[in-house]
Order: sequence, then C-alpha cells, then structure tokens
Amino acid sequence: MSHDAGPSTADAAIYLDHNATTPIAPEVLEAMRPYLQDRFGNPSSAHRYGAVAHRAVEDARAQVAALLGCEHDGIVFTASGSESDNLAIKGVALGLLGEGDHIITSTIEHPAVLGACRYLERRLGYRLTILPVDGFGMVDPEDVRRAMEPGTVLVSVMHANNEVGTIEPIADIAGVAREYRIACHTDAAQSVGKVPVDVDELDVDLLTVTGHKLYAPKGIGALYVRPGTRLDSLIHGAGHEHGLRAGTENVPYIVGLGAACALAAERLRAGAPEQVRRLRDRLHAALRSTAPGLALNGHPQKRLPNTLNVSFPDQDGESLLARTPSVAAATGSACHSGRTEPSSVLTAMGFDAQRALGAVRLSLGYDTTAADVDMAATALLASSSTALASP
Ligand SMILES: Cc1ncc(COP(=O)(O)O)c(C=O)c1O
Repeated sequence: MSHDAGPSTADAAIYLDHNATTPIAPEVLEAMRPYLQDRFGNPSSAHRYGAVAHRAVEDARAQVAALLGCEHDGIVFTASGSESDNLAIKGVALGLLGEGDHIITSTIEHPAVLGACRYLERRLGYRLTILPVDGFGMVDPEDVRRAMEPGTVLVSVMHANNEVGTIEPIADIAGVAREYRIACHTDAAQSVGKVPVDVDELDVDLLTVTGHKLYAPKGIGALYVRPGTRLDSLIHGAGHEHGLRAGTENVPYIVGLGAACALAAERLRAGAPEQVRRLRDRLHAALRSTAPGLALNGHPQKRLPNTLNVSFPDQDGESLLARTPSVAAATGSACHSGRTEPSSVLTAMGFDAQRALGAVRLSLGYDTTAADVDMAATALLASSSTALASP
C-alpha cells in the first residue's frame, strides 16, 4: 500500500521501508485514543482515574509478555529500542561492577548496542570482543565460546539484522553463555512481530523490543528481563517498572505497544508473515529476471520474511533510489542514513565498496500488496536501465 508522503508532497510513494519504521495500525491507534483523552490518570494514583490507567498498563504488559512467551513481570517498559539496549548493556555492566570487565558482541549490531559497549570501554575500561560475521551476516556460536574469558559479564548479539534481515543463531549463542553462566542479551527490535520470538526458546536473559517496527508509535519500547538477572537501573526515581526505570508511565504509548503485540500475535497465528515472504520473493524474482547480476545480501533462508537487500550491478543504491521517488526504501539502516560510506554491515560481510554502495534495502509490511511490489520492481528497473544507458 502506498501512503501519502505528507504535506510537503502530494505524491504517494510505495512504502518499502518497514525496517525503518511502520505506520501505526488503526487498531493500535483506536486502543490508544481513550488514554490520550479522558483516561488520563496517573497509574500511581490511588483513585479511580489512577486505577483505570494502572489496569491499562498491566493489561499491555500482559499482551507484550504473551507475544514473547514470558511472565508479565519480566517486561520493563522503556521509551525506545535504544533505551532498552542501553538498559540491558549498561545495566548488567553496573549490576556486576567489580566482578568482570569484558563484553562480547558482534560487528553488525545497531549503534545503540555498539555505542553502549563503546561507552563502557571508554569510561569504565571494559574490554570488548566484537565478533565478525560470515558472508551471510551470521555470527558463529563457536566464536562466542572462543571469546569467553573469566571476566566476561555479558554476551549481546542481535536476533535479526536491520539491514539484511539475517536471523542469528541466538539459541545456540545463549546456550554457550548459559554454560558459562554469563547473561545473554539479544536486540530483537527487528524480529518481534515478523517471526515468532519466544524468550525461552531463544534462552536469553534480556531481549529488546521497540514499538515502531511493529505498528505501534515511535518512542515506546520494552526490555524483557529474566527473573534473577542482575541489572541496575539507569534512571532512578520513584521505583516504577519494578525499580528498573523510574518515570510516570507513558500510558497511551504503552497501551499502543500492548495492542501492537496482540495484533502481531494474531498475524503470526494467521500465517501473515508467509504472505509477506511470498510477496518479497515475487519482488526479488521480478528484479532478478530483468537485472542479471543482481546480488542478494543476507542469508537466502534464515532471514526476516519481509526483508530484501540487493545490490544492483554497476549502480549506486543512493542515486538509484533518488531517481525512483515512487519507491520509499533505504540503502542502509535508516538510523544512520545520509552517510555516503558503504554500510558497515555489508562491509563486515566481506563485500567490496562497489557491492556495498550498490545495495538497496526493500522491506515490506503487512499492508504491502502484489500491485505494490510489481510497481516497485518496474520503477526500480526503469531507473536502473536509465542510469546504465546514460553516458
Ligand atoms: C536492530 C535495531 N535495534 C535498535 C533500534 C533502535 O530502536 P529505536 O529507534 O526505538 O530507538 C533499531 C531501529 O532502527 C533497530 O533496527
């Protein structure tokens, strides 16, 4: 489905950038609306207004927990995926201060993970092992084992990569961490809602969720914390969120995240990701048939069903998209777009600058139609042949 691109342009563009953000689902907006209007109470208040807001927060907590297969009290609401990543990483480092000084992570993590780790390195002298990935963007669990040291306090490897969609072997990685009794965090910002995510199947202690990748608003997230995980709060105050994140709860957005998780659970049960996968593969087939030499970036099977990252031969992805305004897509992570260097994820996967600069990430959503992918393929192929034809 195309969306009106906003007041600055009347043109509708086919939106294939759902890994950057999703629209808010109508049912999510409807669930939120009363909490932006008359149900405005503070969940900590003892009167009826407070009780209504408190109930809404706890119902949302139950909805998030149900999607992740955990107990309600394992969910801590935060303001973003970035905050959840920071709480997991700095929270464990501070919780275990003096008991270790080494963190294992990977080279393809989101800047929220790498930035938190680098901060600990710079300010508190933590040592980092940043694991490489193979040509599919996959971390080897045996590398995690080899990196273990007596001072290791945390392993943090993402569940699915935002740029290429590769799904990491988290259960195996967490299994290694468990053998060594080390906490394991996974950033599941991209996978929650797109594939089943169960904290016990993944065997992780900490898991990051963000609302705006699963049809809730921007500015709301959650962190799953397994009971017994030693974690310090980063924001101190009146003891909200089991003492792990002070601040009066953002009730409407929490309700939105809960509703989005309930919707995601329904979509997963109904097999909606399979339909998205079929459309994604149809788009890939259409591009490949007319652009020989088109290269797939990411794992051919172990990949998010909505994500297609391809390098167009002899093309620059940024200029290709600039010449194709009818398609809204990205060349790398939207969180660090605007940069002209090749994507660090594609570089870490071993691709040369030409292949990395030729990459385009097309990420579908639950409202993407067959007509959308067909039109997008036609538009992209027309732009790519124009560039090749011009001197
Ligand atoms: C893998 C991953 N982690 C974390 C984030 C950050 O989430 P937020 O934008 O809610 O801070 C993103 C968003 O792009 C992401 O893709």
